[in-house]
Amino acid sequence: MSIAARREDFPLLATQMHGHRLAYLDSAATSQKPRAVLDAVRRYYEEDNANVHRGVYELAARATQDYEDARETISSFIGAAAEEIVFTRGTTESINLVARSYGEKVLGPGTNVVTSAAEHHSNLLPWQQAAWAHGAEVRYVALAPDGSVSPDALAEVVDAGTRVVALAHASNVMGTVADISAAAEIAHAYGAVLAVDAAQSVPHRPIDVRALGADFLSFSGHKMCGPTGIGALFGRADLLAAMQPVYYGGEMIEEVTLQGATWKETPWRFEGGTPNIAGAVGMAAAADYLRSVGMEAIHEHEVELANYLAQRIREVPGVVVYGPKGQRDSGVVTFNLDGVHAHDLATALDTEGVCVRAGHHCCQPLMRQLQASSTARASVYLYNDREDVDQLVDALVKAKEFFHRVAR
Ligand SMILES: Cc1ncc(COP(=O)(O)O)c(C=O)c1O
Repeated sequence: MSIAARREDFPLLATQMHGHRLAYLDSAATSQKPRAVLDAVRRYYEEDNANVHRGVYELAARATQDYEDARETISSFIGAAAEEIVFTRGTTESINLVARSYGEKVLGPGTNVVTSAAEHHSNLLPWQQAAWAHGAEVRYVALAPDGSVSPDALAEVVDAGTRVVALAHASNVMGTVADISAAAEIAHAYGAVLAVDAAQSVPHRPIDVRALGADFLSFSGHKMCGPTGIGALFGRADLLAAMQPVYYGGEMIEEVTLQGATWKETPWRFEGGTPNIAGAVGMAAAADYLRSVGMEAIHEHEVELANYLAQRIREVPGVVVYGPKGQRDSGVVTFNLDGVHAHDLATALDTEGVCVRAGHHCCQPLMRQLQASSTARASVYLYNDREDVDQLVDALVKAKEFFHRVAR
C-alpha cells in the first residue's frame, strides 16, 4: 500500500493547518488514529457498552468478552500470554505499578536499581521513589556520546545487589535503541529483573517479550494509533503472581471481610475499579491495524524516513542534530537551530503546518548532559512521507532566515 493511501486511513491528516498541508511530525508524543480504531470504539459504545466482570446479563457478557478479547490481542501483539497483560492508563502507570508493587517486594538496604540518565521521567521517578522509600540505591549507567546505553557500560554497574534494571528500549529524545537482549542477559546473570520502557518501541517495531528477555514491559495505546488513557503492562506470569495489588477497590477481590481480603488472580488483581473498556477495545483495534500493515514494514519505513530527515536537516547550516552520527534505527530525530530557542522554532514551524515537539521531552537529566535547556524533536510514523520531511526542511530554512534577520 502506498503511503498516500495509508494517510487516507487517518482522517485528521487531511486537515489544513494555517493554510498548509498538515505535516504531523510528533508521533513520539502521540500518534494519529486510523478510522479502524475510531470505528471500533464507536461500535463498542453503540452495541456492547456495559460494565465488565459484573453483570450476568447478555450485554455485560459481551462487554466482558470485548475487554478480554482485547487483552488477548494485545498479548499476542508482543508474544505474551493473556494473563501477563495488565491494562493500565499508559506507560507511566505501568511503570509506577511495577516500581511500587515489585519494588516493595525486592528493594531494601544494600540493594540497588540500575537505570540511566537518558530515561523519560516516567521511567526515572517511579524507580527513584521506590528505591529511596525502601533504603535502596539508584545507580546510573554511563551513557555513550550518542546517548545510548551499551552492554559494556551496563555490566560495569550491575552487581549482586541489583534487583531491577530499568531501561528504555528506544529513546524518546536521542533516537537510539538499546540492546535489550544483552541487558536482559546481564540483569539475569545477577538475579535481577529487566523492566523495559517500551513506549517508543512497541508502536514502531516487532516486539517479542520472550526473545527480548524482558521481565516487565510497559507501553501506551495512544502512541500506537490507539486511544489515550489506555496502556499495558506486561509482567512475567510468575512475577505478577507474587506481587501485591496497588489499587484496592471493586473488581479486584476474591473475598472481603471486615478483617481482611483476598485478591483475584493476575492480571485482574491489578485492575481495581471499572477499567477503560472502550480504550482497551480501541487499543486492540490499533494493534490489529498495525499488524495488518506489518511491524517490520513500519519499522523499515520509519528508519528510511528518519535517516532522510536527519540528512536533510543537517544540510541546513546552523542545525545541530543529536543522537547517532551514522545510521539511525528509530523514527526520532532531535535537533536545535543555532541561536534560536526550540520553542520559538517550533512555533515558527507551526505557522507552515509543521508539528514538532519542543522542550525537555520529560528528560531533564539528559538535557543537562546535552547542555541544552531544550531541543526540537521531529518523529515519524507509518503515515509520514518525504513530503512531510521536505515541508519541515523548507519551514526550517524560512524560520532560520526570519530569526537571523530579526537578530541582526
Ligand atoms: C520513552 C517514554 N517513556 C514513557 C513515556 C510516558 O508515556 P505516557 O505519557 O503515555 O504514560 C513516554 C511518553 O512520551 C516516552 O516517550
